[in-house]
Amino acid sequence: MTSVHALSGGEPLAPVLAAAPAADGVFVEITDADVEQVVELWQACGLTRPWNDPYVDIAEARAGDGSTVLVARAEGRVAATAMAGHDGHRGWLYYVAVAPEARGTGLGRAAVVAAEAWLVARGARKIQLMVRTTNEDVVAFYERLGYADQQCAVLGRWVEPS
Ligand SMILES: CC(C)(COP(=O)(O)OP(=O)(O)OC[C@H]1O[C@@H](n2cnc3c(N)ncnc32)[C@H](O)[C@@H]1OP(=O)(O)O)[C@@H](O)C(=O)NCCC(=O)NCCS
Repeated sequence: MTSVHALSGGEPLAPVLAAAPAADGVFVEITDADVEQVVELWQACGLTRPWNDPYVDIAEARAGDGSTVLVARAEGRVAATAMAGHDGHRGWLYYVAVAPEARGTGLGRAAVVAAEAWLVARGARKIQLMVRTTNEDVVAFYERLGYADQQCAVLGRWVEPS
């Protein structure tokens, strides 16, 4: 989905073809046209926080080769996402989200599987994620997918960008 080329001459096809949406339920890398719907989805799923600008998070994930946002549609609208990033040691998942009306149909599992495949293709051997302690239900979802509590505390500190 990120680049589509003509059969001869190597010139990109018209943008309207390159940006054609994938079939429902198929995870592909986010495009510019998806950004608003992705932010709306994250807000509807309660994943946004005042200290994380979702537009910046999306832009930064798209900026390098080691991270991305994957999206899938249901009835033509963005209905599921997963952000994936490889930090050179571990693969990480963020923003795993399924629209409330599309839950319970396997899209959440498919989002994690797609992000895992993206990370494995970039050398990941272990995939990790953080769940807010207030988000207890979601731990059971990840356990169904084979994830287990790693018995590690996550420590963090805000720093000024240089
Ligand atoms: C968590 C979330 C992504 C699950 O999406 P979903 O599409 O409903 O999940 P699926 O239908 O793919 O379910 C996959 C499996 O997990 C199970 N599961 C899903 N939610 C569950 C829950 N809250 N508790 C226990 N099991 C759960 C399903 O029964 C299913 O099991 P099976 O495949 O063995 O039958 C969705 O509820 C969501 O977007 N939540 C809000 C956002 C969020 O908190 N994301 C996580 C951030 S860390």
